[in-house]
Amino acid sequence: MCGIVGYTGHRKAYPVVLKGLKRLEYRGYDSSGVALLKDGQLNVYKKKGKVAELEEAMIGKDIDACIGIGHTRWATHGEPSDRNAHPHQSANGKYAMIHNGIIENYALIKQDLTNKGYTFTSDTDTEVLLNFIEDIQKNNNCSLEEAIRIALKRVTGAYCILIIEQDNPDTIIAARKGSPLVIGIGKGEHFLASDASPIIEYTKEVVYVNDYELAIVKPDELILKNLGNEKITPYITKLDMELAAIEKGGYDHFMIKEIFEQPSTIFDCLRGRLDAKEGYIKMSGVDDHIEQLVNANRILIIACGTSWHAGLAAEYIIEELCRIPVEVEYASEFRYRNPIIHKGDVIIAISQSGETADTIVALEKAKENGAFIFGVVNAVGSSIARISHAGAYTHAGPEIGVASTKAFTGQLAVLMMVALNIAKHKGSITTDRYSELLNELEQVPEKVAAILKDADQIKSIADKYKSATDFLFLGRGYNFPIALEGALKLKEISYIHAEGYPAAEMKHGPIALVDENLPVVFIATRDVYHEKIVSNMQEIKARKGKIISIITEGDTISPDLSNDYFSIPSTDELIAPILTVIPLQLLSYYVGIAKGVDVDKPRNLAKSVTVE
Ligand code: F6R
Repeated sequence: MCGIVGYTGHRKAYPVVLKGLKRLEYRGYDSSGVALLKDGQLNVYKKKGKVAELEEAMIGKDIDACIGIGHTRWATHGEPSDRNAHPHQSANGKYAMIHNGIIENYALIKQDLTNKGYTFTSDTDTEVLLNFIEDIQKNNNCSLEEAIRIALKRVTGAYCILIIEQDNPDTIIAARKGSPLVIGIGKGEHFLASDASPIIEYTKEVVYVNDYELAIVKPDELILKNLGNEKITPYITKLDMELAAIEKGGYDHFMIKEIFEQPSTIFDCLRGRLDAKEGYIKMSGVDDHIEQLVNANRILIIACGTSWHAGLAAEYIIEELCRIPVEVEYASEFRYRNPIIHKGDVIIAISQSGETADTIVALEKAKENGAFIFGVVNAVGSSIARISHAGAYTHAGPEIGVASTKAFTGQLAVLMMVALNIAKHKGSITTDRYSELLNELEQVPEKVAAILKDADQIKSIADKYKSATDFLFLGRGYNFPIALEGALKLKEISYIHAEGYPAAEMKHGPIALVDENLPVVFIATRDVYHEKIVSNMQEIKARKGKIISIITEGDTISPDLSNDYFSIPSTDELIAPILTVIPLQLLSYYVGIAKGVDVDKPRNLAKSVTVE
């Protein structure tokens, strides 16, 4: 959470920082601010609300500086307000700092500083850390760099910080632990950001800073050190990302653009890995570690939110195809339990951003216990990708809409390929079934495209039900995780209360909610559970609930039971979730739009949950 940007070089810093903040706004949008340094003058401007409000407030201000830092905030300590917005200035006014993360022991440090006479202008942990650094610098009469190093060794929690100093006209000092930082290398200039999106239009050469590293960044020089003050050679990576990928490209919102991109993102995910005609799946991350995967005693899947739903779908698929026991864990629970991890367990970590704090810590814990970590990650070069021993990228491209859509279908496609690959090597799948599933999987992009052609039908359904106050989503088997995902999407994007259940569980409680005002979305495609779910539809109909069903083309039974229905092309039941989720993504989008919600930046959310 929180987006940070920095620039030092020959250009004016403000336009670079502002544009960067707009690109990073998906990470938080409670308030934003910039600090600009020119001629020994350190100016800090900040504003509650979205970046556009800061931009407005900046009209007429001195924005000529060639060094600057900027921040867009997702509030942790202190309400969203001007005074809690970053950057913060140290008590002596000499330093300005932005921070993404949480300093967990800030209260103790604050108490100590207060006893020494420090006062605070905000409620943030960031201001505490900055004054802690100032205090160390004064007491030790050392450089700012040294003071930062000492302070960071004493704090617990997560941070990515950028600091500029009044008396140091061209230097940004940055450090990270647990929150991401990328440095773009230009000619006589450097760019710093939480991800590469603010950087790609200027340079494709970047350095991903690692935990416990500190960067001293000047226009012509990048020095990387560890907290022990030893120099580290920066590892320069080439960005494989185009500017168009992070722009709306004619769509009204990133979310709808990303929903409509799915035929090509799924195609990209399968490309070069799956060949149905030749009958193989090639994934180096799997092939290179096949013994470990095939001989796993157990697979533990660790993730959060939508990625957790992909994990739940994978549990059903892997157990069916590979006959390996699977458990799916919320990262936030796993990290605080005392989980039993055996030698021979394989952990599959699923994450779009690759920066989710709970998932990272859970993986570190599992790694310490000797587990083998396989990452299914979208953001290339992200922390989870780097923590993993092996893995497979989802190749969905940058996902900017806060609600995850194309990354989810990418996760399902990757996990399906991983399962098929393991099953083939393990001999737990017949050759015929293997080829059948390969064929079906290869057809997914065109089937998704066919669903999207009928998006207007979903729009009409959304208009009809937009005023409902509650929704129920029901599915069975492979489509149960999709019921959970449909409910989560609707909650996030429309603020309508929604719950997902296995359809049969309905009778154990949720059925009490059913009346003529309750829309119940059934994911009722043709599979082994079809007759059962039809019975569940009868039960809802008998209680006058409004039935919206997602059905397989040609189904003649479900339409009669439904108030509204949407047909999807027929596919294998194991692959159906990649198709059935698409109309549910569209439903949440269109309901959100009809209700006037800012769907790309719904309230209280942030794209990348880098705090626990
Ligand atoms: C929902 C959504 C979140 C994320 C969750 C995990 O639309 O996007 O629930 O899925 O925060 O994030 P990643 O996948 O980045 O670890």
